[in-house]
Amino acid sequence: MTRRLSNTADGPKRSCTLVLAGGAPRSYSPGLRMSTQSPPGFPHRHLLGIEGLSPLDIVALLDRADEAVEISRQVEKKRTTLRGRTQINLFFEPSTRTQSSFELAGKRLGADVMNMSVASSSVKKGETLIDTAATLNAMRPDIIVVRHHQAGAVHLLARKVDCAVVNAGDGAHEHPTQALLDALTIRRNKGRIEGLQVAICGDVLHSRVARSNIILLMALGARVRVIGPSTLLPPGLQRFGVEVFTDMRKGLAGVDIVMMLRLQRERMNGSFVPSVKEYFRYFGLDGDKLSHARADALVMHPGPMNRGVEISSEVADGAQSLIREQVEMGVAVRMAVLEALATHLPNA
Ligand code: MLT
Repeated sequence: MTRRLSNTADGPKRSCTLVLAGGAPRSYSPGLRMSTQSPPGFPHRHLLGIEGLSPLDIVALLDRADEAVEISRQVEKKRTTLRGRTQINLFFEPSTRTQSSFELAGKRLGADVMNMSVASSSVKKGETLIDTAATLNAMRPDIIVVRHHQAGAVHLLARKVDCAVVNAGDGAHEHPTQALLDALTIRRNKGRIEGLQVAICGDVLHSRVARSNIILLMALGARVRVIGPSTLLPPGLQRFGVEVFTDMRKGLAGVDIVMMLRLQRERMNGSFVPSVKEYFRYFGLDGDKLSHARADALVMHPGPMNRGVEISSEVADGAQSLIREQVEMGVAVRMAVLEALATHLPNA
């Protein structure tokens, strides 16, 4: 099966044609929801990024995730989809919520889950990523979930192992399950993604969350703005088809969704903002800046939050915040992804 997503030079089209080998092209409408049918097969062995997924792949994962939300809200949450399978969570960067979310998702689907963090691994003793991949591969896992500080490391690992690989964040490159959980949260609250005006604000330069979200939201027909100080906006952003603002109040005018990003000081090499106080004054989301968005605008943050740096507590804990719900949707999306990849495992 081959799939082709046609793009224009200045950004993805709002609709696309999906060409399935041996069949007639199926047209895709960005507002499409497929929940009434059983989820179609997921045509990928790994989930390495949002880039490379078709809009239909994304919608199918969101539909599966909607079902996983229902399962997770029941008293009996356990399923058998991954019974007998081994899932290794290999984290080269510290993480609380993403790792525990993948762990819970795997366990709810019946997998045996092993968490391996860099502090306890041989990588600290000089083993290369490729050696680690070969060692883990010899243990015959079915799925490896990887987080690594270098962009591209997860793709490299995927080429060296026989099992399915999920990217749980690679450097400033991609964080596909974060973008999927954000899309699920938006769709459940607004009923759609197509046509919504979404502002992604703050440290876009160092953010894999921003990159994955821009690709996903544009593919599903949202209009995306990015807002931040010019030192934290990568050059050439307009090529993605987004609108760029360096003034929060102007950028937030009339938006439906305000997505805040963490100031990622661990990825900064040098000084990008004069001071945290100054940053909050101009780019931190407080009640005053939020009042420029639509009255029914909703606020998101991938976490972990720096309160008083990129967001005020008043907004983070306020009535317009979806931040806690994003955490719940994270488990559901990861269940959906693991389940979709499981369809390609031997003897599935
Ligand atoms: C990430 O891993 O990128 C997080 O979910 C967001 C962040 O670290 O700011």
